[in-house]
Amino acid sequence: MRQHGLEGVHVKTIIEPFRIKTTEPLKITTREERVAALEQAHHNVFLLDAEDCCIDLLTDSGTGAMSARQWAAMMMGDESYAGSRSWKRFEAAVREITGFDHILPTHQGRAAESILSETILSAGHVVPNNSHFDTTRANVEYRGAVALDLPCREAFDTQTPAPFKGNMDVEALEAAIAEHGADSIPFAMVTVTNNTGGGQPVSMANMRAVKEVLSRHGIPLVIDACRFAENAYFIREREEGFRDRSLLSIAQEMFSLADGATMSCKKDGLANIGGFLACRDDGWAERFKNLLILREGFPTYGGLAGRDLEAIAVGLKEALEVDYQVYRHATVEYMVQRLHALGVPMVMPAGGHAVFLDAARMLPQIPPLSYPGISVVNALYVAGGIRAVELGSVMFGHRDAEGREQPAPLELVRLAFPRRVYTQSHFDYAIEVIEEVWGDRGGLPGYRITHEPQFLRHFSCHFEPI
Ligand SMILES: Cc1ncc(COP(=O)(O)O)c(C=O)c1O
Repeated sequence: MRQHGLEGVHVKTIIEPFRIKTTEPLKITTREERVAALEQAHHNVFLLDAEDCCIDLLTDSGTGAMSARQWAAMMMGDESYAGSRSWKRFEAAVREITGFDHILPTHQGRAAESILSETILSAGHVVPNNSHFDTTRANVEYRGAVALDLPCREAFDTQTPAPFKGNMDVEALEAAIAEHGADSIPFAMVTVTNNTGGGQPVSMANMRAVKEVLSRHGIPLVIDACRFAENAYFIREREEGFRDRSLLSIAQEMFSLADGATMSCKKDGLANIGGFLACRDDGWAERFKNLLILREGFPTYGGLAGRDLEAIAVGLKEALEVDYQVYRHATVEYMVQRLHALGVPMVMPAGGHAVFLDAARMLPQIPPLSYPGISVVNALYVAGGIRAVELGSVMFGHRDAEGREQPAPLELVRLAFPRRVYTQSHFDYAIEVIEEVWGDRGGLPGYRITHEPQFLRHFSCHFEPI
């Protein structure tokens, strides 16, 4: 794997390519305080007060720090209802990167998914994707359509490194089209990077191959573009022929293969809110606009303030700066390499936005339905105030026909990295906390659920240690 470091600098230390102008205090709590807070939160970290979390790695979505340029742009926000200057700047930035004719702002990614699904899908339709993110899946299924995940084979092996584990299985795509028929597939999606599959990237070659198959059958391709800039950086680093290309030109090539895109600007828009839906087809755009006006707002603001549009217009470009991506990827890689050296089992190689601990391998003594992921998450909180999230049998488990609980295929714990928020010493601290939990692994308890809501139980269920 390529040695990371800022371009043209021949020292080993990775530095954040920014200095800090505004600070936000972290509350340093005692172990006793954290034990009490977790108990009060019924052992579910989603129910903690955020200020009681010293290092909050729950998600990378909407949690980033904005730059001085973004804050300055926000002061230029034009809050006119229709045709504002801020809209023009937003549209120009998105058009330059994506090349799409029709660009519709939305308040976040799932609103774009909802408009796409509600206008195009109906019962009996099938949507292939490398892996659907959970909101995308929910929007597809809400229409009575089938959300079909077709990840490449390497995606199932958490231990073996491969450069593009986010790829779609192109043969499986061909087979799905043969099985369901092109008429049942109004569009297919590729999610970059593949969040559900560990933040792993998709290669340009894979996207071209997917596009070729879909074109032969007249099926449009929609990119779920949340982490398009991180994916462009992976392509530049790992794929033959892209090393000298700008991230902007790589992103432009990715989007040139697509007929549309959904985007959550809370990720690679480097903003705290926002998204968009974009496409080439005039007919699709007309249908999207009608629903957008009903659900989000007039097509030149789409549920966002002018100042949000300004922040996104700047943020999308900053996400494509190489120094920023070098630093971001180096941070994830640094944590993975340090933890790997300590023997902590993880999804390998490092993804673009998070470290995924393998809780099943960390705590083999705890069976899946005693939730080893929750055990690791809670231990990280008690040991050092770190908030992570379980991606295992609590989040993805299901009930069989007899109503018996069935475990998820993997028991992972995700530590997601907010953009430009934490420094290397925060990550050094996190590594020490994980090391402590790893050392204590033999004594960690399993958990049982004592209260469970009907939907999305992971957000609000209550646990107790066994
Ligand atoms: C791959 C992917 N798609 C879609 C979404 C939904 O975006 P939002 O949270 O802005 O609705 C997310 C959010 O995490 C995501 O990671």
